[in-house]
Formats: sequence, C-alpha cells, structure tokens
Amino acid sequence: MGTRRMMILQKRQVLVFFVLLGLSRASTESLHYSVAEETEIGSFVANLAKDLGLGVAELSSREARVVSDDNKKRLHLNLLTGDMLVSERLDREELCGSSQPCVLPFQVVLENPLQFYRAELHVRDINDHSPTFLDKEISIKIPESAMIGATFLIENAQDLDVGSNGLQDYTISPNSHFYVKIHDSGDGKMYPELVLDRALDHEAESVLRLTLTALDGGSPPRSGTTSVLIKVMDINDNAPEFAQSFYEVQVPEDTPVGSSIIAITATDLDIGNYGKISYSFLHASEGIRKTFKINPTSGEVNLRSLLDFEVIQSHSVDIQATDGGGLSAKCTLLVKVLDINDNAPEVTISSITKTVPENASETLVALFSVRDQDSGDNGRILCSIQDDLPFILKPTFKNFFTLLSEKALDRESRSEYNITITVTDMGTPRLTTQHTITVQVSDVNDNAPAFTQSSYTLFVEENNSPALHIGTISATDSDSGSNAHITYSLLPTHDPQLDLSSLISINADNGQLFALRALDYEALQTFEFQVSVTDQGLPALSSQALVRVQVLDANDNAPFVLYPLQNASAPFTELLPRAAEPGYLVTKVVAVDPDSGQNAWLSFQLLKATEPGLFSVWAHNGEVRTSRLLSERDAPKHRLLLLVKDNGDPPRSASVTLHVLLVDGFSQPYLPLPEVARDSTQEEDALTLYLVIALASVSSLFLLSVLLFVGVRMCRRARASTLGDYSVPEGHFPGHLVDISGTGTLSQTYQYEVCLTEGTGTNEFKFLKPAIPSLQLHDAGSNVQEKENFHNSLGFNIQ
Ligand SMILES: *[C@@H]1O[C@H](CO)[C@@H](O)[C@H](O)[C@H]1NC(C)=O
Ligand SMILES: *[C@@H]1O[C@H](CO)[C@@H](O)[C@H](O)[C@H]1NC(C)=O
Ligand SMILES: *[C@@H]1O[C@H](CO)[C@@H](O)[C@H](O)[C@H]1NC(C)=O
Repeated sequence: MGTRRMMILQKRQVLVFFVLLGLSRASTESLHYSVAEETEIGSFVANLAKDLGLGVAELSSREARVVSDDNKKRLHLNLLTGDMLVSERLDREELCGSSQPCVLPFQVVLENPLQFYRAELHVRDINDHSPTFLDKEISIKIPESAMIGATFLIENAQDLDVGSNGLQDYTISPNSHFYVKIHDSGDGKMYPELVLDRALDHEAESVLRLTLTALDGGSPPRSGTTSVLIKVMDINDNAPEFAQSFYEVQVPEDTPVGSSIIAITATDLDIGNYGKISYSFLHASEGIRKTFKINPTSGEVNLRSLLDFEVIQSHSVDIQATDGGGLSAKCTLLVKVLDINDNAPEVTISSITKTVPENASETLVALFSVRDQDSGDNGRILCSIQDDLPFILKPTFKNFFTLLSEKALDRESRSEYNITITVTDMGTPRLTTQHTITVQVSDVNDNAPAFTQSSYTLFVEENNSPALHIGTISATDSDSGSNAHITYSLLPTHDPQLDLSSLISINADNGQLFALRALDYEALQTFEFQVSVTDQGLPALSSQALVRVQVLDANDNAPFVLYPLQNASAPFTELLPRAAEPGYLVTKVVAVDPDSGQNAWLSFQLLKATEPGLFSVWAHNGEVRTSRLLSERDAPKHRLLLLVKDNGDPPRSASVTLHVLLVDGFSQPYLPLPEVARDSTQEEDALTLYLVIALASVSSLFLLSVLLFVGVRMCRRARASTLGDYSVPEGHFPGHLVDISGTGTLSQTYQYEVCLTEGTGTNEFKFLKPAIPSLQLHDAGSNVQEKENFHNSLGFNIQ
C-alpha cells in the first residue's frame, strides 16, 4: 500500500513523500562546533566567514542566517565580522537531559542563490550540579539477627551532570557496624549498599544515625549528603515475596490521571506485624514519583500525571514490599508508554519571499521545515500544496523543503497566490496542519498600451468654435501602477502642408482631442495624423493609432454668379431677334457655389420680368429661353430678375439682373449698350425709338418688298440647311450642364467666330465674343455647375 500510494503521489509532482523519523543522511560537509554549557551570552563560537570560505561582505549581502531545527535563536551571526556568537544561555541538562553527547543541529542559510550548510553545536558538560539525595533522611529497619556481610540497599543520589561530572562514589560516616559498597545495577545507576561488618544488638543499640555522602568526579568534586537512620529490630523470620520479580504493562499515553495501571502483591508467611506488608517505590527518581503513586497497602499503582511518549517511552519502577519486621523484597515494574497520534505535524517557516516579479522564473518563495513529534506512522508526514498552482515543493535535506515558482508568472492573469502547505501525518486519526503563504506577483512593464481602435474617424462641422472638443481616443494598459499610467500625444506629421500644432491639441491625460481654430471645409476637407500613447514603465512602451478628421460642409457660401458679371458698371445686354422661335436660347446664367453636396446644388428661378410670360428660366441649368413667338407689340427692352439659390439649410441665394433687347433682324438699328442700360430714360428712348422705327419702316418698305422675294427664298434655303450662316442654332451647342467633376477648371474654352461671307466694307457689325473666355475656377472640391454659355447677339446696320 505504501509503494502504491507513493506512485500516485509521485504522479502529482508537487506531493513529496517524506519520512521524518529514522532519516539521518550521512553528512560529509557538516560543520562541527563545540561550546561549554553555561557559556556567557556573546561568547565567540567560530568565525563562519572563515569556515565557509566566504567574504564578510558576501555573508551580509546574501543575508546569511543561522536557523536551528526547532527555530530557537541560540546562536547569533554577526554579519559585520562573520563571528558566530552564543545568544542564549545553554543549559546542557535542560537541552539534552542525560543523553550524551549533547548535539544541537542547525543550518546556515544563504540567499541568492539559496544555499545551506549543515552544522552541529556540541554542548559540553560542566560540573554545575551536585549529587543530591531525594530524601533528607533515610530510615532502615534491620533485624538484630542480620548476618555479618548482609547488605542493605539505600536510596541512590542523583547528579544531573553526565560522564565524569556525574555521580562517582559514596562514603559513610565512620561507625563500628557498617561500611558502604557500591552496587552497579547495570542500568548505569550506582546504588549504595550498607554492608554489615559487626553484628547488631537491639538491646545494646536500637538506633544508629549515620551520614551518607555522594561524590561526583568533577574537578573540584561536588557532594551531597543524607542521614541514614538505622533501627535495629527484633527478629522476623520470613521476608515478603513477590509473585514475579518483573512486571510489564503497556499504557497508552492518553490514559487519564488517576487510572490504575497495575496492582502488585507480595506475600509474607509471618503473622501479625511481621506479616503486614507495605509497598513503596525503591530508588524512585523524582520523575517517577511525579508520574506514579503506589497504594502502600494494596500495591495498586496509579497515574499521578499524564504520560508523554514524546518525552519518555518507558519507565522502570522498582517496588519494594516491606513487612512489619523490616524484611523486604524487590520487584521491577516496566511501564511501556504507547504512542498515540496526539501531535499534529508542525510547519516552521524559515524564510519567505512575499513578492515575486512576474518575469522571474524558478524563484525561491519559501524555505520551511516540517516535523511531527509522534513516532512510527504517527510521525510520518506527507507534505503537499494545491496542485493547480505554478509552484512546486522540493525537499532539500532532512525535513526541510523549498517552495519555488515553477515558471515565470503573469501578473495580468493572476496577481496573488495563496499557497496552502498541507502536512498530514499517517497516524490514526490523521492529523493535518495547514499553513498559508500569500505571494504577490509584482508588475513588470510587459504590456504596451493599446488603443481601443487602430484608427479613429472624427467628424467636425466647419466654422466650429475654437477649442472645440471633437472626440476622444482612448487606450488601455493591462499592467499596473506607473507601468499602466498612460499619456497621449500627437506625433509630428510628415505632411509639410499641414500645420498640425495649430489645428489640433490633445489632452495628455484623457485623450480628448480639440480643434484649436475654426475649420473651413472649403480650405481643408480632411486631414489625418498619428497619435501615440506611452506608459511610464522602465523602459516605457508605446503604440500608435491613426486619426482622420473629416470636416463637414456647412452652407456658408452663397452662390456666386459668373455670368453675366454683376459688378460691371455697364452690364451686358442680350440681343434677341424678334424672329426668334419659341424656346430660343436667350442666354444662360452661370453660377457656382464653393460649398459641396446639397449646399452646392443650384436652382434658378425667374423672380421678376418686365413682360411676364415671355421668358422662362430652366430651374436646373439657368438657361433663359423665350416661351412664345415675339410680336411687334412686345416692348423692345426687357429686364429680368433671376434668383440663384442653393439647396442648403437654410438656403443661400444670389440675384442676377438680365437686360434683353429685342432687335428686328437686319433692319433693327443697333443701339449702343449704354443707352439700353439707362433705365431712367427708358420712356424717352422708347418714344424716339418708335419714331425712328416708323420712319425707317416706311422708307424701307420698298426695299423690304424687293428683298421679300429674296428673303423668302433665303428662308427656304435656311430651313433646308437648318439655319443660316450667321444664325447659329442652339442645337449645335451643348446647351446643357457641363459637369466639371470637381476639378475646378472648365475643361474647355469655348470660342465662336461668326463670319459674314458677303461682307462689304460698309457693313458694320458688332460681334460679341463668347461669353466665358477661358474662365478659371480655383475652388478645390466645389461642385461647379457650369454651363457653356453662348452669346450670339449680332447687331447689323446695313445702309
Ligand atoms: C524582469 O524585468 C526587469 C525590469 O524590466 C528586468 O530588469 C529583469 O532583467 C527581468 N528579468 C528577467 C529574468 O527577464
Ligand atoms: C488570499 O487570501 C486572502 C486572505 O484570506 C484573501 O483576502 C484573498 O482574496 C485570497 N486571494 C486569492 C487569490 O484567493
Ligand atoms: C468683377 O468681379 C470679378 C470677379 O470677382 C473680377 O474679376 C472683376 O475684376 C470685377 N470687375 C469689376 C469691374 O469690378
């Protein structure tokens, strides 16, 4: 069963089987020291530094200590000199009793790395005790008929010292009847025996008083005395007799006080007073008298105090039966104490490390010893710790164990271990002692701080207030203390265009990001930069993340009209031939909005016109077209007010004023533009104009009728070839939206030339160049709605 159990235990790695008793490994490297008992405290024993071959500095740096098996501080190690000194009164008799030699084992423990030296201290005996007799007076009754040469045992003296300091000799005071002889009982004790030298006579001398002296062998010797009172008795024929000369009883150590352990009887054939037996202990030590008592009449032996197997395993008690006449008999009672598992194993921690750094592998956590005072199975000890911990137990020597961490620990997964050392003996019932060691794992900066995201996108409305909190980045560090104390910072950007420090600031403590100044979407739509987070470990660890800031557009720009120019002192006037078909393209308003998206979707709207219903504006592209045929009754000058509006919330708008002049084909006299522009004199101008027209109509009637034929023919030709040379049809021009695709530059320059083939030197014509000569827009990202604008107003003055 033992071996099977051992195999199971071996599997469990951490469980170590250890037999306490009977284990004494031969030590080759033990140090031996010797000191006399009762040496003064502080006396020099040895220089450990010299004996171990170590420097004094090393002794102190490695925290050398002297650890005794029972954890008593008998020796002190002076770390400054390496001297080992006596630090407690050493009483050999108290430490070892009668056993010899008196050797106290101890260990010298060095840390970093852990090292042990075994050592022994031999406590030498000095003659500090005198022999003593337990009784001040010993009384013996001797019948007068005693033969010459008869011997009488006397109570022995006791000397606590051992060896030559122990009891050596007895002498008796000078007298004429007795001399003393030393009787060696074989158990190491020396009993004095009185030997009768000359016959006694009760009638002549009934009482003798002698002095017995015990001497030890010390130098100088010490002595003790007792007085012996000898009563000379009348004759008594028969001595008492024990049934057996030797009795043995086994008594469990937990037998209660007062229990009877045996009753011994003797018989005496005499009658009367000479046959009356009384029992007593003979040569009983003080220990025996304290432990047992005997009933003088019944011979029953009782326990006077508790037995303790761990102190004394057996007691040998001599019992004497004496009759009334003084004759006696002796027997021996051997009381064997049976061990009971009454002592729990003990754990003594000699050295402990409460904090282990998490990156340290195989670190010594504790050095401890175990012991159990019981014997046999009651003293066999199993020592174990929980098997789910990264710690192992290793036996070192004798009953010492070390507790080590098995591998590097991880504070982030577990920062504290409660290690319970369980020692159990194999007795019945089993007794268990537990000792818990708490080990803290100290932090090492082995984790870099980590951002919650690898990149962050923040959105900011443009025109924000300065120092606006635009977002927070955050990181965590799983270390502790300053290893987890993190600070945020901006990393310098590599983009030379971006002056990050004037745009963004970061709160180093909590990662809040602030826009330092108002952002302008039209200037900067998006930008990105790196942020860093650093802990305060040694060395510090850091990590980075990307932050992208997107500026959101606000409708902060009104549409801007590119054509017709609104700031010109002399605005353009569009010329419209009266012959124009409905849907004729008069002009096209071109506007842009620097904003984006909805904020840049433009719509056009006719607000006011001199002649409502004549012109219409296409809401989406700004084309102004005629909506019906023109008649003679229509006024020649028209003024249109257009509104350009974006789709923002709230919308922003701009207004455009257009001047349109109706011209009557070739006969329409050209009117200088400034006159048209002068609205205040419009009424007078109109009147003059009508007169001129009327005169011109009448005088030209003939010419017209001549030309009518030619005109009809030309008209037919023009229809056949879509339109005449001078009249450019709108279909030839992409009169719809030109998408600039955000490039900001009109991709084409439109240029048109009109040539009159039959041109004569007298013909005056005014040619208006294309409306948008190579217009450049610089607004990055704005959605430019651009329309090819074609201005084909022609003025003729034919004479
Ligand atoms: C443990 O970490 C400390 C601090 O970072 C370092 O000084 C030491 O060398 C490390 N020990 C091992 C065994 O890695
Ligand atoms: C260790 O024991 C202490 C005291 O009993 C307790 O407060 C602590 O929570 C225990 N720790 C662990 C990790 O069990
Ligand atoms: C009108 O405005 C345009 C664009 O801002 C500018 O280029 C032009 O010089 C201005 N013209 C006058 C006459 O102010």
